[in-house]
Amino acid sequence: MDRRGFIRMSIAGAGVGIIAPQVALAGSSTPSMAGGVFYTKDAPGRWSKKAAGHLPQIEVEKGQNGVAVRVTTGHEMLDYQHYIVKHILLDQNFGFIDEHLFDPMSEKAPISKFALKEYSGPLYALSVCNKHDTWMSVAEV
Ligand SMILES: [Fe+2]
Repeated sequence: MDRRGFIRMSIAGAGVGIIAPQVALAGSSTPSMAGGVFYTKDAPGRWSKKAAGHLPQIEVEKGQNGVAVRVTTGHEMLDYQHYIVKHILLDQNFGFIDEHLFDPMSEKAPISKFALKEYSGPLYALSVCNKHDTWMSVAEV
């Protein structure tokens, strides 16, 4: 392969690498990574007996000043031994919106609140346990 051919192949490979993750996630409310990389109600994977205490509950309230979101995980906060590390909010394209990092020494319940300006569509919440990985729920705003 000559130099130009190598450069063309490299550019094509980079393009596939950029586009492929978008294709894998497009058009599915439960991406194929569910049950492996992260867990959902329908794909609890290896932690199927842990779903109730790890799925984030999303409450949404629309008001004149935007959207108030409250995320709760029904999980213990046992100091640094076993606790919810953080909540993360993602938009309909799985883009980062905001996060709340918990301090298990001072926060005894994994509840986070977010204020969003004008948002509509699917809103994803991730809840990250230090022992039982990442769980995702979705709410419609
Ligand atoms: Fe846990």
